[in-house]
Amino acid sequence: MPYSQEDQQWIQSQLQAELIGHEIITYDSVDSTNNIAKRLVGEPDKEGAVILANSQTQGKGRLGRTWHSEENVGIYLSILLKTSLPPEQISRIALVAGVALVQAINEYSPARAYLKWPNDILINGKKVAGILTEFCKKKDLSEVILGIGINVNHAHFPLPLQHIATSLAMENGKIFERLPLISSLVNRLDQEYQSFLNEGLSPTVTQWNLNSDMFGKHISLTKGTQTFFGTAMKLDEEEGHLVILTDNGEEIAFNSGEVTLME
Ligand code: BTN
Repeated sequence: MPYSQEDQQWIQSQLQAELIGHEIITYDSVDSTNNIAKRLVGEPDKEGAVILANSQTQGKGRLGRTWHSEENVGIYLSILLKTSLPPEQISRIALVAGVALVQAINEYSPARAYLKWPNDILINGKKVAGILTEFCKKKDLSEVILGIGINVNHAHFPLPLQHIATSLAMENGKIFERLPLISSLVNRLDQEYQSFLNEGLSPTVTQWNLNSDMFGKHISLTKGTQTFFGTAMKLDEEEGHLVILTDNGEEIAFNSGEVTLME
């Protein structure tokens, strides 16, 4: 069902927003909630507003992929944040969001979700949620659009996604209510983001490391045309970069790349 006015009011009543979630704007179908959020850049009081849609016709994933955005069964939302971070540090906001997202999912999902760098959420090795940050500069304003998609009650996926995607319902054998998950996510995003602004990245990295099962595993990491093989060690505290001990015995920290788990 599309979100009703009562749904919107219920979510709003559950929020303790300092910044993220002071306003919830719901839609039935949109092209992409990130695109709707982008149109609000520069408008007064829209920082921290949550754009929530029941379906997307052109949901965007990372690396130019599309995000399967079936109506009634998923959570598709975007949040606008002002930032003074330079573009190369925007990935820190995705790490902050990843911690809030995995914790919100694990509050409701008995099947445990884990973070996979840079910002995928997996259950039993399949993707259940993802994060897309887009940097937007208009005149002297820098804003980040933080987009989050969660596969909640999907019963199946189109063929090309079947071996890589899953939903909370498929992994747990039951249907989930979307509204409590949305309000938990937005409250956690608000808290984690305030902690990041006040204390820096370190508490987020600690939580990130605790909520990932990729460390100690053999991985490949592709960056541009190069592929590295090694063991994932940790995210470093200062930058949130992925540290790998390569098979040649060299420790390298990566700020971006695509990771494949080898075992
Ligand atoms: C990924 O590839 O893992 C990122 C997926 C992000 C999907 C969300 S759904 C809400 C928001 N609007 C979009 O078009 N994409 C993001």
